[in-house]
Amino acid sequence: MNIYFAPIQGVTIAHYRNIHAQVYGCVDAYYSPFVTTTEKRSASKILFKDIFPDVNDPAVKLLPQLLSNNGIHFREYAKWIVNMGYKEINWNIGCPFPAVTGKKRGSGILPYPDMIKKFLDEVCKDTTFELTVKMRLGFQHLEEGTKVIELLNDYPIKEVTIHGRTGKQKYEGIADLDAFEHLYNLSNHTIVYNGDLFSYNDYQKIKRRFPEINSFMLARGILRNPALAYELKNGPLTVEERLEKLISFHDALFKHFEERSDAETYLCNKLKGLWTYLSVPIDPTGMYFNQMKQCQTIVAYNDIVKNMLDAYQLNETSQQHLL
Ligand SMILES: Cc1cc2nc3c(=O)[nH]c(=O)nc-3n(C[C@H](O)[C@H](O)[C@H](O)COP(=O)(O)O)c2cc1C
Repeated sequence: MNIYFAPIQGVTIAHYRNIHAQVYGCVDAYYSPFVTTTEKRSASKILFKDIFPDVNDPAVKLLPQLLSNNGIHFREYAKWIVNMGYKEINWNIGCPFPAVTGKKRGSGILPYPDMIKKFLDEVCKDTTFELTVKMRLGFQHLEEGTKVIELLNDYPIKEVTIHGRTGKQKYEGIADLDAFEHLYNLSNHTIVYNGDLFSYNDYQKIKRRFPEINSFMLARGILRNPALAYELKNGPLTVEERLEKLISFHDALFKHFEERSDAETYLCNKLKGLWTYLSVPIDPTGMYFNQMKQCQTIVAYNDIVKNMLDAYQLNETSQQHLL
């Protein structure tokens, strides 16, 4: 089984991926958040700041992602990326955010198969890298995704990741497995499943329905429980093991932020961002996270984290005794 860590803009950036891999491992590849192609003439340090090999641990497999609706621009960017040593590039045609889709990028390109054909005719002339695609069911309708998946069959694409929502749906509701199955059955390519995998039970449900799928891309599931990839491959950790790894993960991220700035507001804001996801399973009522949102000092922050983890441990241990 392959587990891919899906990209989350602003969160799964180099330091996060490096630290996650060091503490937890078990992710077969991390996708970079997208870089948008434009008519740039050079590979600037800022543009590729998250992709340059010097910020990425060489032991961590990174797959760069581009957001583009222009094959010539994509090839230009691909050339720079290949020069950095990468051999595979992901094309994002799934992003649902209106600022992106309004420019016929991300899932906003899905209603335009002619644009997609023109793009792929250009990009697939280049054989110096392998192309993968990340898409949704359509922008508004499954018919759009249907035309696109049939079109993709004509091109040499290594893998196609399908997220089971339309662009218009953004992250509302649940992933539509019937619609996913429809596209899966039409594709000649290797399909990667993406959408709403938060637990081993979620994974089993998908594996039972699609036994031939071997690659799974997860985002929010791993952000909430960074041990999830490890647990899907090796079975559940004990409460103590889970906490020990979580504390190592947290402390390494804390140290990283602290090295960048020791201003308390900066540090508190970065750490609160982290707990937006991490607190979901640890603090199901949201009581501690609400306290954290108000805190302005690291002393207060550390107190809340300690109380939250103590309460989690107590609660989980007492539940285990009841079983
Ligand atoms: C805030 C946010 C930023 C995201 N950024 C990207 C991105 O840069 N590239 C991309 O392909 N997907 C992006 N995604 C989508 C995720 O990679 C993933 O496909 C989505 O969260 C569904 O997977 P999940 O149900 O496992 O969370 C983003 C999602 C969110 C919520």
